[in-house]
Amino acid sequence: MQHRTYPKTGWPISEVGYGMWGLGGWSGSDDEETRRSLNEAVAHGCTFFDTAWAYGAGHSEQLLAQLLREHRGTRLYVATKIPPKNLRWIQLEGCSLDEVFPADHIREYTERSLENLGVDAIDVQQFHAWSDRWGADERWQRAVDDLKREGLVRSVGISVNRWEPTNVMTALETGLIDAVQVVYNIFDQNPEDDLFPLSRELDIGVIARVPFDEGTLTGTLTKDSRWPEGDWRNTYFVKENLIPSVERAERLRPLVPAGSTMADMALRFILDDERVHTIIPGMRKVKNVEANMAAGDGKRLDPELMRQLRKHRWVRHRKPWSD
Ligand SMILES: NC(=O)c1ccc[n+]([C@@H]2O[C@H](COP(=O)([O-])OP(=O)(O)OC[C@H]3O[C@@H](n4cnc5c(N)ncnc54)[C@H](OP(=O)(O)O)[C@@H]3O)[C@@H](O)[C@H]2O)c1
Repeated sequence: MQHRTYPKTGWPISEVGYGMWGLGGWSGSDDEETRRSLNEAVAHGCTFFDTAWAYGAGHSEQLLAQLLREHRGTRLYVATKIPPKNLRWIQLEGCSLDEVFPADHIREYTERSLENLGVDAIDVQQFHAWSDRWGADERWQRAVDDLKREGLVRSVGISVNRWEPTNVMTALETGLIDAVQVVYNIFDQNPEDDLFPLSRELDIGVIARVPFDEGTLTGTLTKDSRWPEGDWRNTYFVKENLIPSVERAERLRPLVPAGSTMADMALRFILDDERVHTIIPGMRKVKNVEANMAAGDGKRLDPELMRQLRKHRWVRHRKPWSD
């Protein structure tokens, strides 16, 4: 497993990390299988884990706590997130900071996460949604600064809303944000335009999320894919999204190198950008962990293939179903 240096702290984090949303409660999750998968990831050298209080109201964090206990001798890096107080993840433009991230809520959920995780300090505490209208507001700035000074969090990040990679630039300019988490994959190349240049200039960590476009870029979805009732993917992959997604994935299939998979190609596409510090594929199954950790071997895609993949950029904008 290759490592990249998380800015400012110098932490050597694994370039393939672990996304812990699905295991917190997507349909079909099985805690025993999750435990095996998490352990398998550590065995392959994964040291970066991205969870959130909202992933099963602390359940995903508690599964990570168990992993941390089992690997006390290994430095594992923990990223989690503060949920928006009004539980709105999008269309935050009309909401005041007080409705979404008041100072007492930032502290309360940091304390809850510390307890769930069983740690004294969180390595990366992130805002789980954001509107940059609040970027210059001193109230959130003081709140995170206090948590840092008290040693409860070691660094602070913002998880940018889907397909809005620049809805964070003012906050980044404050100098108080150490990391940004953003959707970046073969389709969603927009962070390269403005966000990555600024993150490089300001020495801000980049956590690239949703590497498989929620599953499309594994090449396993079909135009008839459905999930059990209650699974959020039924409302995300509505026909308007599922059909063009599958068609675009099919166009990628001829580009998959012999002996490789679309999923492996998707991860290596992201790792090609040195401005990314880690990628966090969502995984619950051991076989997916084994496959995805292999992408951290330092081997890059052929430059000609990278050139071809760049043409598959798909610029999308927020839709009623997209969150
Ligand atoms: N607002 C936010 O802050 C936010 C939003 C979304 C995601 N995230 C973070 O980003 C992480 C990644 O995003 P995601 O989990 O939503 O989507 P993703 O990583 O794009 O896709 C996850 C899906 O791909 C499957 N998969 C994984 N590896 C595979 C492989 N090698 N072959 C075939 N299928 C494979 C997983 O299956 P199994 O689960 O069955 O193994 C799961 O269904 C999340 O877990 C979370 O940590 C943050």
